[in-house]
Amino acid sequence: MTDPSSRKLIIAIDGPAGAGKSTIASRLARKLGYVNLESGAMYRALALKAIEWDASFEDEAALLKMAQESRITMEPAMGGNRVLLDKRDISARIRERDVTEAASKVSVHPKVREWMVARQREMGLGGGVVMEGRDIGTKVFPDADLKIFLDADPVIREQRRMDQQRVKGAPAQAMAAELRERDRRDRTRAASPLEPAPDAVLLDSTHLSEDEVLERIEALVNGKIAARPA
Ligand code: DC
Repeated sequence: MTDPSSRKLIIAIDGPAGAGKSTIASRLARKLGYVNLESGAMYRALALKAIEWDASFEDEAALLKMAQESRITMEPAMGGNRVLLDKRDISARIRERDVTEAASKVSVHPKVREWMVARQREMGLGGGVVMEGRDIGTKVFPDADLKIFLDADPVIREQRRMDQQRVKGAPAQAMAAELRERDRRDRTRAASPLEPAPDAVLLDSTHLSEDEVLERIEALVNGKIAARPA
C-alpha cells in the first residue's frame, strides 16, 4: 500500500491569460520535482489541426472526431512543455496568434471539453503534477490537493502580454484587444466558464513579482504536505 505521507499532490492553477500561470506552474513543478501540464496546449493542438484541415471552429462534431483521432501528448521540457500532435513537435507553432485565437474558439464546445478533461485526468491521476488551465480546479480535478486561482488586473495582464509580443514583433495594440475578447469568451461560455472553484485560494499577482507569487504558492504547498496524514 502507498504510504499516504509520500503521496504526491495534484496542484491546480487556473486563471485568465497574462496572470502568470505558465511561468509559475513551470517553476513550481521544477522546484517540487513534479510534472507541469499545460492544459491549454491541448486545446491549442486541436485548434492547429482544425486550421490545417480547414475545419470550422463552430463544427463541434467535426472537432470532436478530430480530437478522438489525434494523439496529443506533452513532454516536460526546459521552460514549458514540448507538445506533440500525431508525433509532430508543434510546441512553437501553437503559440502563434492564429492558433491562440482558434484555441479560444474550439474550447467553447462541451463535447470537445469532455474529451479534453478525460485525457487530462488520465495524465494527472498519479499525482505529482502541477496542471494549469481554466477549469482544472472546477472540472478536471475538483478534488485537487491545492487549487490556486491566479488573477491580475486586466491592464497589467495586457501589458505583460504586450511586452512578450513586442519581443516577437507583433502589433501590441491588436494583441491587447484580442486578449480582452478571449477573456470575455473564456468567462462567458456556457460550458465550464473560467471561474474560481469555491475552495480555490485567490491570488492577485497585480502587485507581486514572479518570485513573490511563487513563494506564496510554495508556502501553501508546504502547508498541504505538512497536513497529510502520517
Ligand atoms: O492557457 P492557454 O492560453 O494556452 O489556453 C488556450 C485556450 O484554451 C484559452 O483561450 C482557453 C482554453 N482553455 C480552456 O478552455 N480550458 C483549459 N483548461 C485550458 C485552456
